[in-house]
Amino acid sequence: MADLRVNIGGLEMKNPVMTASGTFGYGLEYADFVNLEDIGGIIVKGTTLNPREGNDYPRMVETPSGMLNCVGLQNKGVDYFCKNIYPQIKDINTNMIVNVSGSCPEDYAECAARINELDNIPAIELNISCPNVRQGGMAFGVTTEGASQVVKAVREAYKKPLIVKLSPNVTSITDIALAVQDAGADAVSLINTLMGMVIDIEKRKPILSIATGGMSGPAVRPVAVRCVWQVAKAVNIPVVGLGGIMNAHDAIEFLLAGASAIEIGTANFIDPAITVKVAQGINEWLDNHGCKSVMEIVGQLNC
Ligand SMILES: Cc1cc2nc3c(=O)[nH]c(=O)nc-3n(C[C@H](O)[C@H](O)[C@H](O)COP(=O)(O)O)c2cc1C
Repeated sequence: MADLRVNIGGLEMKNPVMTASGTFGYGLEYADFVNLEDIGGIIVKGTTLNPREGNDYPRMVETPSGMLNCVGLQNKGVDYFCKNIYPQIKDINTNMIVNVSGSCPEDYAECAARINELDNIPAIELNISCPNVRQGGMAFGVTTEGASQVVKAVREAYKKPLIVKLSPNVTSITDIALAVQDAGADAVSLINTLMGMVIDIEKRKPILSIATGGMSGPAVRPVAVRCVWQVAKAVNIPVVGLGGIMNAHDAIEFLLAGASAIEIGTANFIDPAITVKVAQGINEWLDNHGCKSVMEIVGQLNC
């Protein structure tokens, strides 16, 4: 049995496999199907300062080897989370991580500050792909200035490990990664979804209610692996890789590209126990290749 433990910017994990935000609820929804404590970390739904209703339906559509969603961060707000969800998840013996979203830096910071008070939430993941209401809805994470501004605001308010989740919908993801590192991120995770669109040709209308949505699933994986490889070479903080991971083979691609941990999203909808199967598969692969620790293969690409 290889040593699967990793450390992501101060966050100790028993294995490198986490769930991706928005695809695993609060973990509780999956408790009948998988032993939650065997997962390295559970990143819960996107949480905002105030409640959000999300977008109108339809907000999901399948695509070749993937899906699009425009759920729009539906959630009941951070106070509801602290009062009603936290008591239910705080004793699950794994890293319960909150994905923090917002529409202006002050909202992000206030939301993070409230989560900072929760002893059993050891880290947050900051979703900087959210629209900036003061900049005509352009996502924070698509400019170095926007990304840096929101990370600086949160860094002041949040004292534990801060993972910043990057958008692939940019010209240079490396520049954004360096900007968030300078602004105080302890780690980066990538990628969030890629912007896409599907059209009903008979109705001559987009299928999703707001026309476009975020694409995920196996179709995005080569883009995600490329992003991880580029960012891991540029930054000196840990990288968490995700996008289209369906099995241990895919996860190992990300580890070799430079990720020290991975997240699994869309695949949870196909197999709710996929996270634990991937952790076991990584372990078997390491054993078969004579590796004593998962860290032995991180970034070890021959190229
Ligand atoms: C239905 C759905 C909801 C999502 N909600 C969030 C969210 O609230 N916050 C976030 O940072 N990412 C969210 N994501 C993006 C995923 O966490 C992940 O970055 C993306 O799906 C790529 O990984 P995958 O191909 O393994 O699904 C969502 C994805 C899906 C499919």
